[in-house]
Amino acid sequence: MDEIMRPIALVTGGSAGIGLEIAKLLAADGHDLIVTGISPRVHDAAEALRACGGKVTAVQSDLSRPEGVQQVVEAVQAAGRLDVMVLNAGIAVGGAFLDNALERHLNLIDLNIGSTVRLCHALVPDLIRTQGKILMVSSVSAMAPTPYESVYGPSKAFMSSFGHGLREELRGTGVNVTILHPGATATEFHHRAGMDATVFGDNSWKNDPVLVARQGVEAMMAGVTSLIGGDEATQRIGEERKDLSEEEKARRHAEKARPPKTR
Ligand SMILES: NC(=O)c1ccc[n+]([C@@H]2O[C@H](COP(=O)([O-])OP(=O)(O)OC[C@H]3O[C@@H](n4cnc5c(N)ncnc54)[C@H](OP(=O)(O)O)[C@@H]3O)[C@@H](O)[C@H]2O)c1
Repeated sequence: MDEIMRPIALVTGGSAGIGLEIAKLLAADGHDLIVTGISPRVHDAAEALRACGGKVTAVQSDLSRPEGVQQVVEAVQAAGRLDVMVLNAGIAVGGAFLDNALERHLNLIDLNIGSTVRLCHALVPDLIRTQGKILMVSSVSAMAPTPYESVYGPSKAFMSSFGHGLREELRGTGVNVTILHPGATATEFHHRAGMDATVFGDNSWKNDPVLVARQGVEAMMAGVTSLIGGDEATQRIGEERKDLSEEEKARRHAEKARPPKTR
């Protein structure tokens, strides 16, 4: 008798934060998983995700590098099919633009933009074969200037715009692209960005990654184009932003992202 094929989902940055919560939901929904992370703990995350009963492959690789992307592509090729691709791994670099080495900004671009383009170019053909789904984890920062994380917001604006364009090109193929724009979310993200001393560094007021992940997965499954991830206050802020000038949005972002010494 033929073995029943379970759908396979790739979740980049599935070892922590929003990506781990998305991976848990997809595992509970009957997907086998390929989860990626930059550190060895992706193997612990994979072990925990196996409790849902599916097959879970862990890939430890640096997605800011072409070789790291290639490792993920090879894992998908070894799995033999791809039904869901969640592009979630991403970083910010906190602090004033000139206070950070150029290399840190370029590394952010290589991860947030470069890996998005590389993975789509390599794996969208697999998704066309299965009429699969893409979830891009962008940010509300895509919709505003982000002083003191100056390259981050533009990198997410790229992702959102790229996602909308790709969605249109894929019309009629059965592949759907959903773009999730989370508001500030309580993960390791701002700590990793070196922003502990800023308002964003305090996780107590931020969105629950479980909520943001659920909203994203439900939207992807329903074929929604674009959404803001987070609680009612986050949704309200997202709506209000539409009427603000770029200058005002930049000022408001700086209030939360500016390190104390430059206030
Ligand atoms: N948290 C927020 O406030 C917020 C708001 C809006 C949008 N987002 C977006 O949500 C996404 C997930 O962020 P998060 O908050 O869940 O962050 P997080 O808790 O810091 O998790 C980041 C994930 O990305 C992986 N990663 C980091 N650098 C990598 C690299 N060079 N190559 C491969 N993997 C790498 C990490 O792997 P390890 O576990 O091995 O370190 C981890 O799995 C990001 O794209 C971020 O821009 C976050």
